[in-house]
Amino acid sequence: MKKIFALVLAVVMLATGTAFATTVDDVKASGKLVIATSPDFPPFESLDAENNPVGIEMELMALVAAELGVELDVQQMDFDSVLPGIIAGKYTVGVSGISVTDARKKNSLFTDPYCLAAQAIVVKEGSPIASKADLDGKKIAVQSGTTAEAFTMGQGYDVLSFAANPDAELALTTGKVQAWVIDDLTAKEMVDEYNAKSSEKLVVLDEPMTTEPYAFALKLGNDELCSAINDIINKLVADGTVASLFEKYEAPYTSPIA
Ligand code: ARG
Repeated sequence: MKKIFALVLAVVMLATGTAFATTVDDVKASGKLVIATSPDFPPFESLDAENNPVGIEMELMALVAAELGVELDVQQMDFDSVLPGIIAGKYTVGVSGISVTDARKKNSLFTDPYCLAAQAIVVKEGSPIASKADLDGKKIAVQSGTTAEAFTMGQGYDVLSFAANPDAELALTTGKVQAWVIDDLTAKEMVDEYNAKSSEKLVVLDEPMTTEPYAFALKLGNDELCSAINDIINKLVADGTVASLFEKYEAPYTSPIA
């Protein structure tokens, strides 16, 4: 009976092209783990020269999919479409350097965190902005729908939101804003890349403003699938695989486990 159901489900999923896998059996029957990502967030997710998604989270999810015995199906979109897509049941897992917050927990289910990050300030070299205290009254770029946006707006700053991270960076380099607030590891990666090809330099200020655990998002109610993914992720954290992925991408790793 279970097998017939899985078969029928697989046929329906194939026919409709939708991904409404909500259990481990659904995922296995469909043969793929459909993830939603905004690949403008190195070293977690970005596109390589051939436009293939690469990064720490892409590799981590490939391991999760392999452990479930299915293919990884990566759907690309702007960050502010990732969580709505999970809530609507369009994708099975949101994989986008997503910080777990109480507000997000009301509408999505989160796996256990696998690392910790923070918000950082990026400015042009020589900028009078040297710390958070100097942000008052300045124009600040952020990515739409992020914790950077929520944080800076919450502080009452003058915020300009961009759908894609490279556009937030461009707003800073072209002088439309005086600062860019973005997660620390991505800040470092994007700034290094920019500085390597530009004579004018950017700097990441040495003042982490928040502590944010990164995890993966599922639709509320998909607890069984979430706990199966947790088992896999927790094993990969405990056996050092996650730390070695950060090492591969030359990023410092902060474990979520105190
Ligand atoms: N960690 C931040 C948040 O959860 C930013 C994530 C942005 N991710 C991306 N792939 N662009 O809001």
